[in-house]
Amino acid sequence: MKVIILDNAQEIGKAAGQLFVDAVKENPEIVLGLATGATPIPTYEYMYKAYEKGEVSFKNVRTYNLDEYVDLPKEDKNSYYTFMHEQLFNHTDIKEENVHFLNGNAEDVDAECLRYDEELRNAGIDIQLLGIGRNGHIGFNEPSEAFTKTSFKVQLTDSTIEANSKYFDENPMPHYALTMGVGSIMTAKQVVLIATGKEKAEAMAAMINGDVTPQCPASILHFHPNAVIFMDKDAASLL
Ligand code: F6R
Repeated sequence: MKVIILDNAQEIGKAAGQLFVDAVKENPEIVLGLATGATPIPTYEYMYKAYEKGEVSFKNVRTYNLDEYVDLPKEDKNSYYTFMHEQLFNHTDIKEENVHFLNGNAEDVDAECLRYDEELRNAGIDIQLLGIGRNGHIGFNEPSEAFTKTSFKVQLTDSTIEANSKYFDENPMPHYALTMGVGSIMTAKQVVLIATGKEKAEAMAAMINGDVTPQCPASILHFHPNAVIFMDKDAASLL
């Protein structure tokens, strides 16, 4: 695991963004696993600005997002579908048919997870971007007794609901989500985890210095052959 500590969130966005831009330039048909949340916003901004400057094209890039809320309409302002379009896709030339999400509104959630896993297996993720929850979650794989293998419906923990409910001003935040499993995340050829801010310091200390345990799902990245961790000084403050 390669750990890179930079000054602040903007620097992380620049470094992680450049890594993705370089990877897309090298392989224009790359398959990217993408994350939502506040942390990747500067990374996505860096990526679409590189597109606007004519440095890179996303025309043949395919993407798979980590997770999506259950029973939240796709068009809701808080869906991860909307987030990705607003923060990245709408600012680039990526094709709508090339962006993929778990469908949190599927009638048969188990069948939906199987469908997504099969697509993931066939596509093969080249680089997976991850944020990290305050409790060490990756995707929505919350701390638990065992590492999850494949996509599944998860009940979000109080910590995650507390962290994300600030975005839900009108309707209550969903308490369930569909997420890729830790096993699927680990199949990516490269994993890039980004963490910024003091509220991530405990999770980063547990992930980097603690045991590899499903109580801190991100700790599994110690076993990934090509994991890069970018964090700012605040997130690194308890290392
Ligand atoms: C979102 C996701 C989550 C977030 C994590 C951190 O797709 O997979 O694991 O990365 O909750 O969220 P922020 O960046 O908002 O602190």
